Amino acid sequence: MKVRQIIYAAKFEGSPKESDFKIVDEDLGDQLKENEFFYEAIYISCDPYVRLLSDSYIVGKTTIPGYQLAKVLESKNPKFPSDSILVMNVGWRTGGKSDGSDVWYDRTDIPKNVPMSAGVGIFAMTGLTAYYGVNYVLKPKAGDTILVSGSAGAVGTVVGQLAKGMGCRVIGSCGSMEKIKFVKSVGFDDAFNYKTESVAEGLKRLAPKGVDLYFDNVGGSFSSAVLESMNKGGRVACCGAVSSYNSKVPAQAPVIQGTMALNSLSLQGFNIFDDIPAYADEIYVALKQWAGEGKLKQHEYLTSGFESLPSTFIGMLRGKNFGKTIVNM
Ligand SMILES: NC(=O)c1ccc[n+]([C@@H]2O[C@H](COP(=O)([O-])OP(=O)(O)OC[C@H]3O[C@@H](n4cnc5c(N)ncnc54)[C@H](OP(=O)(O)O)[C@@H]3O)[C@@H](O)[C@H]2O)c1
Repeated sequence: MKVRQIIYAAKFEGSPKESDFKIVDEDLGDQLKENEFFYEAIYISCDPYVRLLSDSYIVGKTTIPGYQLAKVLESKNPKFPSDSILVMNVGWRTGGKSDGSDVWYDRTDIPKNVPMSAGVGIFAMTGLTAYYGVNYVLKPKAGDTILVSGSAGAVGTVVGQLAKGMGCRVIGSCGSMEKIKFVKSVGFDDAFNYKTESVAEGLKRLAPKGVDLYFDNVGGSFSSAVLESMNKGGRVACCGAVSSYNSKVPAQAPVIQGTMALNSLSLQGFNIFDDIPAYADEIYVALKQWAGEGKLKQHEYLTSGFESLPSTFIGMLRGKNFGKTIVNM
């Protein structure tokens, strides 16, 4: 089997460039040992953590990390027979040979009434992260006001739908007027453009009684400012800090501890690798139910072709995407 992969060709300085990536061919032969299988990528996910983790990559060697929805082509592994649909944590590659150790989730049972690309969106890292952050960290009750930053993105659009379905008033922040329209169409009550309105102004206008819960996708000074508008006992789910991932100098933000103490706020970080695995099965069942009832939809920004991965990734970090960024093979 012949496959292609994309490796880290030059160190990212600020926003990645297309020349930082290189496509490399690989011949895996045609023989399988016991428990091995060949798979082929169907959809590859584009994620901000690829930029966040880049200090650990080796120039000229590291395959760009990432996960994909793949189909098993031929198998000597009874657990993953031919035609299985798997979420594979194998980096940016068109396919490969596996012994099953890099299978993240088996998604052969994706319901027929949702697009298969949900296997890298609402039914994979994106949906699991959003659901965990909402239900296990923020634990909203009906009537709470929740702010979601990065609201027009992959995780943000899922968080908005879940919180709305739980009876919250859901406010978003995002980077353009078009995105405000988009998040309202997804189910948000309202949103403000953080590029043209300050946090204080936006929240005074849209959440005059204060914010109870904050799902934080962006971090930095934006998020420090949100804490000033939070009600007593408010809770923050710290999901990520995409506002700083492309920074050439370490990001700086105002000191938050005084506000946190005065308003009895709590902030909890969590991540897909350490906190969520123990709950991944039960969350998947819940996500399928939400999707089955029509209360959770996959909103995606789809591009085509393996070679478009670098430009799609660069564009996503700059805010080009509406919803989950996916490359269709
Ligand atoms: N904890 C976990 O396990 C986990 C798992 C998945 C994702 N995450 C985190 O969740 C966050 C969202 O990830 P995602 O996959 O859903 O990505 P995403 O939101 O779909 O895409 C990234 C978005 O970041 C926004 N952005 C870029 N620069 C920004 C800035 N300076 N300030 C504010 N927003 C900026 C852009 O939207 P605008 O046009 O609105 O600026 C862009 O669309 C990231 O921080 C990611 O690392 C964490």
